[in-house]
Amino acid sequence: MRKAISFLMHLFSSNTLHGTHSPFVYALLRDCVYSKMSVRESVKSYYSGMKERKDVIEGFDHGAGKSVRIEVGALAKKSVTQHFESNLLGRLVNHHSSQRILELGGNLGKASATIASMNENADVVSVEGNEGLVQMAKDGFDTLGIKNVNLIHATFDSFFQTNEMKFDFVFIDGDHSYEPTLRYYQRAKECLKGQGPIVLHDIYWSKGMEKAWASVKQDPDATVTIDLFFMGLVYFRKNQEKEHFKIRFPKSLFGFFL
Ligand SMILES: C[S@@+](CC[C@H](N)C(=O)[O-])C[C@H]1O[C@@H](n2cnc3c(N)ncnc32)[C@H](O)[C@@H]1O
Repeated sequence: MRKAISFLMHLFSSNTLHGTHSPFVYALLRDCVYSKMSVRESVKSYYSGMKERKDVIEGFDHGAGKSVRIEVGALAKKSVTQHFESNLLGRLVNHHSSQRILELGGNLGKASATIASMNENADVVSVEGNEGLVQMAKDGFDTLGIKNVNLIHATFDSFFQTNEMKFDFVFIDGDHSYEPTLRYYQRAKECLKGQGPIVLHDIYWSKGMEKAWASVKQDPDATVTIDLFFMGLVYFRKNQEKEHFKIRFPKSLFGFFL
């Protein structure tokens, strides 16, 4: 109910291309957000096919803080980004010519596989704490012939403790609660080079995520934020007035009811 109300409010308060006056955001919407470029069919159908699987996966979910035992099909339906979301991530990486991408929350590997196969010259580093998922995601990359994803089995905190890499694009899609999301956002900023973006998934998923998104918007370094409802984009552009955009993404209406 809370999410439905937030969604309706978003619909009424958001703009499309034509209500957007910032040249940076206008070009981003025209050339990337509203573009139709999508991942090759083999990647899409591989992850769609996973929804039918009845085998069970076990492991420790560091977001929920407990052991989980779940059918792969159920996981593929509810835990991974929808096609329109992972395609948008791939287009964003393409639009910004990002070279090294960090994903927090690899899961079955769908988002990283999509980004990687839409951007074969980029390197994707994906972090996942559940060992069973790591193995399953790696099997998927092998099946699809995807070679530019480095999937790391670690908790997000332990990854950041030892990480020395810099990234020009970060996708945060792990523990969807307030305090951990802000912690990962801060750590992501520390290893970000350039103007971003840092992308937060599911910014209206819970009250905690709404609060985390509101805090991120207050960050003085975050000069441009774009609320697409199903994800939020944060840019760190120098010499730019701070500005927040709410953008209507046609497929999110469809995606909301999936
Ligand atoms: C929503 S799923 C990610 C979906 C994925 N980005 C995709 O669309 O293909 C979140 C994943 O984050 C992992 N996760 C959550 N908190 C974590 C943590 N603190 N450390 C490591 N992994 C974590 C969970 O095991 C889960 O697989």
